[in-house]
Amino acid sequence: MNAVITAIGGFVPSSILTNKKISETVDTSDEWIVKRTGIKERRIADDNTATSDLAAAAVENLLENYKVDREEIEALLVATATPDHILAPTASIVCEKSGLVNAFGIDMNAACSGFLYALEMGANMIESGRYSKLIIVGADKMSSIVDYEDRNTCILFGDGAGAVLLEKTESGNGLMKTILKTDGSGVSSLAVPAGGSRTPISMQSLLHRTHYLKQDGAFVFKKAVSSMSQVSQDALAKNELQADEIDWVIPHQANLRIINAVGESLNIDAEKVKVNIERYGNTTSATVPLCLWDFKNDFKEGQNLLITTFGAGFSWGATCLKWGVMRDEKTAKISKNTTEKSVVMAH
Ligand code: UT7
Repeated sequence: MNAVITAIGGFVPSSILTNKKISETVDTSDEWIVKRTGIKERRIADDNTATSDLAAAAVENLLENYKVDREEIEALLVATATPDHILAPTASIVCEKSGLVNAFGIDMNAACSGFLYALEMGANMIESGRYSKLIIVGADKMSSIVDYEDRNTCILFGDGAGAVLLEKTESGNGLMKTILKTDGSGVSSLAVPAGGSRTPISMQSLLHRTHYLKQDGAFVFKKAVSSMSQVSQDALAKNELQADEIDWVIPHQANLRIINAVGESLNIDAEKVKVNIERYGNTTSATVPLCLWDFKNDFKEGQNLLITTFGAGFSWGATCLKWGVMRDEKTAKISKNTTEKSVVMAH
């Protein structure tokens, strides 16, 4: 028995933060950002919108468009690095907002690899035979931890959420073997130093702005390229697939140069590598499900997808999956209308 994705939802806030707008507040330029990252704009949630609102909007989009019975959902795994609160779980809030009355909810934080980690957990829950319908969400309000006075980081991130429905299948489609990796020595290179139990928020942390995300960008860049390239090759080998048997690559969207370097190292044509970073920036846990949402109409039954991610921790990994049959959608073309509809729902 395999776990297969049968429905996808997504949500991005309507407000767009352009490179030009950022260059009005920090010393940067549209040209530098596009050349060094590939990002043109990112979506930013308003002050009244928390991560649970983004997640619930993506879940609602999924439930509505694919006519999924919310009472049949058994579990909700929410991958996020920006929970609404340190305590209580964001997943509880999403279960409540989305009417998932029979689901248990749990948060999972593996930063930019959170969605992939949660997908692997969800697939194992289904393959065990104990669960048959789960929703996996990747959602982050990165604007809540980004320092808009730091040009090294504020250009990179955006807000958004994506959700997938995982169901059991005996068709042979679905999730294959996954490799997940963790290297805790990476924590000092990419973290929000204050606000947790190590360094609770204080006047000092506010003064030194350590409640915002800090990153050694160049070091993380190199680690991301080498780790995603290697783990992708290892995942292909584990699943007995050759690179030319991969129809689509869904990479974590942190930097277009990282994405291109990983694609080249795998010897996979650039047109097979899905990219939407120019519109959303790095939405952390949401990059992979937002990519699946954006490009789902390109994926055909039986095609092989490769997903690979890298993020804080360090956490990274890769999986292969054989695309299955999706549930029927209410509308054939939904992306634009859905976004607009979801914007209304979330605000
Ligand atoms: O998703 C989690 C994982 N995160 C990542 O994978 C992100 C990985 N890192 C990156 O994407 C890139 O390292 C950055 C986009 C953050 C930076 O690009 P870079 O090409 O690695 O630049 P750099 O950090 O080596 O800096 C080169 C120069 C520096 O100036 P000097 O020292 O050469 O004079 C920076 O101060 O670029 C400068 N710089 C900027 N200039 C204009 C850094 N940020 C900016 C900026 N605008 N926004």
